[in-house]
Amino acid sequence: MKNGLFISIEGPDGSGKSTQIEVLRKYFEKQGIDVLLTREPGGTPISEKIREIILDKNNMEMDDMTEALLYAASRAQHVAEVIKPALAAGKIVICDRFIDSSIAYQGYGRELGDCVRVINEYAVRGCIPDMTFLMKMDPKVGKERISESEQDRLEQEKLDFHRRVFDGYIEMEERFDRIIGIDAERSIDEISADIISHIERIIGENGRI
Ligand code: ADP
Ligand code: TYD
Repeated sequence: MKNGLFISIEGPDGSGKSTQIEVLRKYFEKQGIDVLLTREPGGTPISEKIREIILDKNNMEMDDMTEALLYAASRAQHVAEVIKPALAAGKIVICDRFIDSSIAYQGYGRELGDCVRVINEYAVRGCIPDMTFLMKMDPKVGKERISESEQDRLEQEKLDFHRRVFDGYIEMEERFDRIIGIDAERSIDEISADIISHIERIIGENGRI
């Protein structure tokens, strides 16, 4: 039974996720609240090794299903080794991407469909975020923020792939109450004020932390 709080941040590449996570870290630390910041793919030594394989620009021949299974494998280790223990210890966990990234990128982007959700339900074994912030930004704007040379194997995909990913995210926002859409085409301060107001409201409603 978890008693911490699990927050994930989702959205297109370059939509400002890491920037907002840093703001949230400062916000919680100012209040003396212990937060664990982590990211996917990655977050444990084994998961970081899997990350290197997935994002390596030389692995262009990787099969789409191999890719989906590697993300899920990386996530299974991350949940077991880091996220579940931290939540059990009552911590706030903030994760840069989680299950919804796989559903959006592999399910919608690679068009593997609903099997991606099923695989990932095995991987996370019931560990689903309490709230998920979806950074809503035209994928073209996010892509333009990252220089060509910095782009990993997934980021190098064509714009129509990134549009399918974004449309997937929008469908998921409509389907799941825990996903909160955030207009990410604003200033850093406006976005963080919006996110923090949602967190304060939800913590207030649930009496958590
Ligand atoms: P992500 O983690 O989603 O890839 P980042 O937080 O790394 O995105 O942001 C990508 C780039 O955009 C960085 O150079 C960052 O400084 C810049 N950036 C982040 N948020 C904003 C914003 N609200 N307005 C303008 N630029 C931003
Ligand atoms: P990340 O390093 O978070 O990129 P960014 O900071 O630019 O958003 O993620 C690397 C890439 O992996 C990104 O293009 C999204 C992709 N990804 C998936 O395709 N499926 C997944 O399950 C996850 C976690 C990430």
